[in-house]
Amino acid sequence: MNKIPWWMPKVEKEDYEFIKKALDANFVNEGPLTAQFENKIAKLVGAKYASATTSGTAAIFLALKALDVGYGDEVIVPDLTFIATANAVDLCGAKPVLVDVNPADLTISIDAIKKAINVKTKAIVPVHVTGRGADMEAIMSIAKKHNLFVIEDAAEALTSKQGNKFLGAIGDLGCFSFSANKTISTGQGGMIITNNDKIFSKLRPLKDQGRPMRGTGGGDDIHNSIGYNFRMTDLQAGMGLGQLTHLKKRAERMKRNYELYKENLKNVSEISIFPSRQEELPQWTDILTEKRDELEKYLKDQNMDSRKYWRPIHQQPPYRLPDDNFPNSTRLSPKALWLPSAFTLTDENTLTICKKIKEFLKK
Ligand SMILES: Cc1ncc(COP(=O)(O)O)c(C=O)c1O
Repeated sequence: MNKIPWWMPKVEKEDYEFIKKALDANFVNEGPLTAQFENKIAKLVGAKYASATTSGTAAIFLALKALDVGYGDEVIVPDLTFIATANAVDLCGAKPVLVDVNPADLTISIDAIKKAINVKTKAIVPVHVTGRGADMEAIMSIAKKHNLFVIEDAAEALTSKQGNKFLGAIGDLGCFSFSANKTISTGQGGMIITNNDKIFSKLRPLKDQGRPMRGTGGGDDIHNSIGYNFRMTDLQAGMGLGQLTHLKKRAERMKRNYELYKENLKNVSEISIFPSRQEELPQWTDILTEKRDELEKYLKDQNMDSRKYWRPIHQQPPYRLPDDNFPNSTRLSPKALWLPSAFTLTDENTLTICKKIKEFLKK
């Protein structure tokens, strides 16, 4: 049997066609395809503006810079997320303040946010873990009360909704990632979305060496402010445009994977599947089990890849803090596992995985 992957990106024929446009035009830098990709993403998630970047990490960094978050500021970040969320805060000079997560869905705890707020707090970065929305209503209300910014880390939540709004489009800014394990990929790549004119006007100079408009190519451009280079290229955007043509189909398959797991593992008492609401897109299906490491190994021996959850950030060397401050992430991270969740899976694959999980637990 071929290996069942945990995730598998897929290059489509449309990717070649769009990338060829960039190659044929002899224009491989940021150009018309990037603008087209930005417009499509903005439209897709109901945002006024979108700005493409080199990665999701760069997107969060630029979003923080656009809000003038920097040295001396604190930014509240969940303890259980990919470390990129905290690293992006560090990159802008601010201090990431880690807080615990909810046991029910592993998104940022509202009580923990409230306890962490002080005079230095400037922003909250909720993470929509594996497509599950953090409680945005509560977060927006806290932010309003304390005059804080909200940047949604929606790296794993493209097209997931909360109520009638897309995740990423609720806070002041939202950030997506197009790395290889996301629903659509550009190799590396990211996108910032916002509805705020003023914030958007700061993103262009920040990602392009302080130029308010795309550079003329002339050496005598005016650089009004300090900026960097975090621009996507038309080669990447071309791939993104190709990938977008398959988004709907992929999302349907990812939902189907989740539903099959939920249905077929519902009576297995040693496993609990995290919820996915109707309007959410489960990026990957995640479960809790006491025998996480043994199950992961068993599946691997059966040629099936699953993926252990992130370690809590407070246990990583650069951010080390006592476990006692984070009871939920400390307790749950070692039990959490992502089951094979690729959009390339078939029903048969998913059912075989469920069968193997049950076999393992019977032993
Ligand atoms: C929750 C989360 N935040 C941030 C990132 C960073 O995105 P990138 O890898 O594109 O820099 C990722 C994904 O990789 C992620 O899963």
